[in-house]
Amino acid sequence: MGILKNSRIFVKIFFLFVIVLLLSVLSHVLVAQKVQQEFLRKQAKSITRQIVLTRQWIAGLGGVWSKNTYSKAHGFLTQYSEPSSAGAVATVFYLHNPALATREISTLADIKHGYNFRVVSDRFREPKNKPDSFEAEALKRFQTQKMTYTDGFEGGLYRYTEPLFVKQGCLKCHGKLDQDVKEPMKTILLKKYGKEAFDYKVGDVRGIISVQIPQQTLMALMSSVFTVWNVLLGAISIILFYLFTRFVIVKPITQLTNVANKLSEGEIDIDLGAAGLKADTKNEISQLALAFERLRKSFEIMYRKLASRKQ
Ligand code: HEC
Repeated sequence: MGILKNSRIFVKIFFLFVIVLLLSVLSHVLVAQKVQQEFLRKQAKSITRQIVLTRQWIAGLGGVWSKNTYSKAHGFLTQYSEPSSAGAVATVFYLHNPALATREISTLADIKHGYNFRVVSDRFREPKNKPDSFEAEALKRFQTQKMTYTDGFEGGLYRYTEPLFVKQGCLKCHGKLDQDVKEPMKTILLKKYGKEAFDYKVGDVRGIISVQIPQQTLMALMSSVFTVWNVLLGAISIILFYLFTRFVIVKPITQLTNVANKLSEGEIDIDLGAAGLKADTKNEISQLALAFERLRKSFEIMYRKLASRKQ
């Protein structure tokens, strides 16, 4: 600060300008971050809506069947072969339950659109549906508090979760054995997954849907600040600041200093530029000029008195 004390007014103002500029970049980045989260949340919500509706549709049908084909990576819940008539190739149908279909669709979304989602549960049948720490935390919150979603940033990703509630259609595979889950589904499920994830009632939290979208990096946010227009506006502000300090502050003060110097050397017949100024002006520099003018006049009177005494 010692350096600043003796430096030019313009240097001081420039210093202030740089601080203001840095603060405004910071505030812009903070706002951009907030806007980004808001935007990602909206995106995650609509992805969730879509997938919940799709799952509900599949559950309502008791799962969907594909004919003669299924994805090797995802498998199927069960299969059913149509008895072939003489010579014809047998037709095989494969059953896709909602959680399986969710994984299949997410794989497509992952590749094509840069986001993915999955359903997980603390009581999982399929090891792939085991929650990670973020999801386990969200599940705990949904089970103990009335929340509609949780979200946050983790490892370069925006993460969003919503509870998945048990609907009537889910009971066919997740309700009470015999009462809701009947043959042949009962045997299929028990054989494949054992006694896991039964006995749910309508309205229970069965698990969560978990969406992940890549987050914009801080660098990307910063580059949104330094656009051509922003740099141009910054340059214009610097020029305006410079012109203002130069012509409104520095120039009048320099002029005043010069004439005050002359005054100190005994020159009293000088123009301080106070002629047109009003006595009640609010401009501090004009007030200074008026004060100097009064000083000059006192000198003038003093000189005259001295001169008349010598005669
Ligand atoms: C046709 C049977 C069937 C129906 C109907 C069904 N599910 Fe499932 N669900 C399964 C099977 C089988 C699994 C485990 C295998 C897997 O992940 O594909 C599973 C897994 C899940 C999981 C993941 C946790 C785990 O156990 O691995 C959730 C959450 C889930 N189901 C919720 C629901 C909800 C909510 C509904 C109703 C909208 C529903 N399910 C309807 C059969 C079904």
